[in-house]
Amino acid sequence: MKIAPSILSCDFSRLADEIRAVETGGADWIHVDVMDGHFVPNITIGPVVIASARRATDLPLDVHLMIEDPDRYLEAFASAGADILTVHQEACRHLHRTVERIRELGVRPGVAVNPATSLESVREALPNVDLLLVMSVNPGFGGQSYIQASSDKLRRARSMLDDIGSDAELQVDGGVDAGNAAAIVAAGASVLVAGSAVYGHEAGAANGVKAIRQAVGG
Ligand code: DX5
Ligand code: ZN
Repeated sequence: MKIAPSILSCDFSRLADEIRAVETGGADWIHVDVMDGHFVPNITIGPVVIASARRATDLPLDVHLMIEDPDRYLEAFASAGADILTVHQEACRHLHRTVERIRELGVRPGVAVNPATSLESVREALPNVDLLLVMSVNPGFGGQSYIQASSDKLRRARSMLDDIGSDAELQVDGGVDAGNAAAIVAAGASVLVAGSAVYGHEAGAANGVKAIRQAVGG
């Protein structure tokens, strides 16, 4: 089970320190939320900040693209140092082409589905991705509550991946904390993204990661 702290909730004036803190806590990946103000009602960061994050850590950079027509920027994010590029099903007109392009760039492709998007809509793309992201909030902001129906969706996603013999990661993003992490892992998730639960932890971000790790028992 991997933990991918989302730097969306960190103090960007201390980006390198904030990344080091979660590394100390035992983070597996660094989750980076890219928002364009079109696909989601918020604007965050782009390739420049990802290049800075790249200089701050050797951990894989797990880049979540919440942007319309991501094809236009795949090369820029690959050059900036992304290890994983996850695009939203809802934002891609030709998902298969987009996923193939990501792989050609030497980056691991992922596909994300919003809470109201069916798993069925990405079934044909699953053999081509290394990661399936089930959104457990409507994307756009950190600090929202976990949508309970996501656990059932995760169970269905897990059996879809198992059915095709895929070893893709099953990632969950939104409202994950030490209180619900164990149930989410039991539902089949292999990568937990957590932003506010980590960077908002009262004993600091390193302990935020540890608390989630402890809750899932390793
Ligand atoms: C939401 C982002 C998430 C966000 C998670 O649109 O994709 O990665 O940072 O934040 P929390 O864990 O606070 O819900
Ligand atoms: Zn995210």
